[in-house]
Amino acid sequence: MDRLEITGGVRLEGDVAISGAKNATLPVLAATLLTDAPVSVSNVPHLNDVTTMIALLRRLGIDVAMHDAMRLEVGGGEAREHVAPYELVKTMRASILVLGPLLARLGRADVSLPGGCAIGARPVNIHVAGLKAMGAEVDIEGGYIRARAERLRGARLVLDTVTVTGTENLLMAATLARGESVIENAAREPEIMDLAALLTAMGARIEGAGTDTIHVQGVDTLGGASHRIMADRIETGTYLAAGAITGGRVRALGARPDTLDAVLAKLVEAGADVSVGDDWIELSMDGRRPRAVDLVTAPYPGFPTDMQAQFCALNAVADGAATITETVFENRFQHVLEMQRMGADFRLQGRTAVSRGVAGLKGAPVMATDLRASASLVLAALVADGVSQVERIYHIDRGYERIEEKLGRLGARIQRLHD
Ligand code: EPU
Repeated sequence: MDRLEITGGVRLEGDVAISGAKNATLPVLAATLLTDAPVSVSNVPHLNDVTTMIALLRRLGIDVAMHDAMRLEVGGGEAREHVAPYELVKTMRASILVLGPLLARLGRADVSLPGGCAIGARPVNIHVAGLKAMGAEVDIEGGYIRARAERLRGARLVLDTVTVTGTENLLMAATLARGESVIENAAREPEIMDLAALLTAMGARIEGAGTDTIHVQGVDTLGGASHRIMADRIETGTYLAAGAITGGRVRALGARPDTLDAVLAKLVEAGADVSVGDDWIELSMDGRRPRAVDLVTAPYPGFPTDMQAQFCALNAVADGAATITETVFENRFQHVLEMQRMGADFRLQGRTAVSRGVAGLKGAPVMATDLRASASLVLAALVADGVSQVERIYHIDRGYERIEEKLGRLGARIQRLHD
């Protein structure tokens, strides 16, 4: 298993090119199941989760051609299979995104239940309830969600909890349903707008994506389209946090500043100078130590849970005490325990991590437990005294493209070790 070896203490300086967003690419690829026509997708990041979604599409009988490093040509034929098997779903929960499109397009879908994961229970009851409200028959059998519907019918769906992939699944299903659907208490994440942009280009009739009420007029068929994936806001935020934690200056190129308001506000509160252009963000600390910041995670436009771990790393070495409260997932503080092994001073009280910033962390071997936790351990290692090894980095390869190259170009002393 690969590890990252990091020698801390370098101020990061320079430019970093931001990749396409993982959490936009996965629903966009699932949406290609809704049509027989080819869909061209560009700015696709090279990530293990994307490879898993491509493997799943191929398993469903869809052709996927890779034209160059970042462009995929998908489909041009109907899905032949309707089963998303356990061995693929267990490696990536987002495989659940094929449920809505398969059901809407083929009238049947068998998708393995994802089960628990390192950050909490993460049920899919809202996805299932929404499809039932649209007329599907859904059973759980042998660990699979088995859904059937001759043709889905439009319905008013009031989501119990704001769910990102739940909103995406139901939005995709509604595009081919008979009549109008209204999704209330919908997630407002920018990735949902990216998906809606593709669906609209394919001929779907959608209003309100990006707000908490989405209206969809179902159509009979969808066609092909070309789509460019939006910039990854979490990758952007992670590199800016790396700049802040090391007292450096980092400019993120090809970014989407408009999707990062809550994160940029917290970086400014931490003492960073932040300037933005249309598609870039520059953060500068000029050697200053960050100030600790209080924050509470929430669905978009609130502070993203996917940036919580990185801000734990920041608070670990910042000046002062602070609290970080996680409201989206119930068990997302594994990284805090690892940072304690590097000398961080945290106290966990239920869903809140109380920190008292220490003057310095000490390098140590640490273990990644999920994607964003591993990113936060890399950040902690960048500022720690001495050498750290971050183990189980297959988690990081699920969501960060060539992280050691990008950080290396900013001056970090980082290398990948193969066992
Ligand atoms: N929930 C339910 N029932 C459901 C669905 C969700 O109770 O049917 C609960 C979850 O347990 C959780 C909350 O609703 O407490 C929100 O979860 P959500 O469904 O929004 O999460 P998700 O769609 O599974 C996506 C991202 C995650 C990100 C969350 C929250 C993708 C592929 N994944 O997950 O990304 O943390 O939204 O923003 O879009 C990551 O990239 O590292 C990652 C985990």
